[in-house]
Amino acid sequence: MTALRVLTGIKPSGTPHLGNYVGAIRPTVRASREPGIDSFLFLADYHALISTRDPARVQRSTLEIAATWIACGLDPERVTFYRQSDIPEIPELTWLLACVCGKGLLNRAHAYKAAVDKNTADGRDPDDGVTMGLFMYPVLMAADILMFNAHRVPVGRDQIQHIEMARDLGASFNHLYGEHFTLPEAVIDEQVATLPGLDGRKMSKSYDNVIPLFAPREQLRKLIMGIVTDSRAPGEPKDTDGSAVFQLYQAFATAQETAALARDFGAGIAWSEAKERLFERIDREIAPLRATYDALMAQPERVEAYLREGAAKARALATPFMARLRHAVGLRPLDTLPAPASASTVTGAPSAPPLFKQYRETDGRFYFKLTDAKGHVLLQSHGFASGREAGQAVARLKVHGWAACTDLHPQVTPHTDADTLEAALAALRKAD
Ligand code: TRP
Repeated sequence: MTALRVLTGIKPSGTPHLGNYVGAIRPTVRASREPGIDSFLFLADYHALISTRDPARVQRSTLEIAATWIACGLDPERVTFYRQSDIPEIPELTWLLACVCGKGLLNRAHAYKAAVDKNTADGRDPDDGVTMGLFMYPVLMAADILMFNAHRVPVGRDQIQHIEMARDLGASFNHLYGEHFTLPEAVIDEQVATLPGLDGRKMSKSYDNVIPLFAPREQLRKLIMGIVTDSRAPGEPKDTDGSAVFQLYQAFATAQETAALARDFGAGIAWSEAKERLFERIDREIAPLRATYDALMAQPERVEAYLREGAAKARALATPFMARLRHAVGLRPLDTLPAPASASTVTGAPSAPPLFKQYRETDGRFYFKLTDAKGHVLLQSHGFASGREAGQAVARLKVHGWAACTDLHPQVTPHTDADTLEAALAALRKAD
């Protein structure tokens, strides 16, 4: 059995904080170590260009985020860990997908719609400030996912629509060019831990209440001492419910440690002491990671080497797959064409025989259609339960012709007259 392929992109932006660590980095790293999982993780630096035009910042964030994930235990040997922009097949696939993507689909994308709505509300042109990068975001993301035929894509709720669009684009491509892509499924972790920040609200950059993951020890201590609490004095029992100090502790401590702190809350532990304990508990987990992070930041060439190895692993899959996709759409070497017939035989005759195409639809059923040399559909089947049944129907039509196979008529819809059909089937029989 092949391993379950799980793929996620990380946008390199901002400095990671404890909330990112507890909610995303730590669980993802753990999941990547589970047996039977083939994990793909990449830095979505092409995506970063949509929101950042500061080249130094793009570079710096890419280094910081890569070093963060490695420091937090991501094993680049075991996981395919790469930088999106090291895989030229991804933008190449983006174009192939763009060519099967209705513009209307992208008009409905949340991020684009939000920009348009805001412009409209502010009385500006609807597309004011909207780049094609923003508009095409879902297509690039679909290429990220389909390139590696990921089965599962763990993402936040805000990304579900993007995964659905990736499925849509993959299915359209498969329908037109044959079965090439696995259709991905979004995995939403319903119980993602959200961590309170310094002010008790959810830890988030937009609230300016974050504790940076790799703040130096003394700064970490200072920040923790500044967490908002109620004004109960030492000796007064304290509520664990709604206490940011307690919730943060819980995110790092074992069940026993947490129970012990709960007892001490009841017994009236001083806030300063509770915070001291929280600080030591967090630092115990983070300190070794911080040391690795600092070492990596001091040697960017090591991070670069990891990413290049990851890119080589990823391209070992992407390059041959892209070659197959290029062939599928007709981007082919010209010398593989059969020699053209001479002018006299061409007159009045189609240049290629009709063609049966068998394929599988997203409903899981098996279909075939017959097209003429110009690609017009002559006949279209309904869904068969198995590929074998569909194949047998095709074989019988070829051998016996349309009129003789009356039992197949309910399962096949002709799109042309009977004479044309019989002529096409006869031509196929001759060609076989
Ligand atoms: N759009 C994702 C985010 O903002 C990042 C991303 C880019 C991604 N490409 C992806 C996630 C492919 C999963 C799969 O978080």
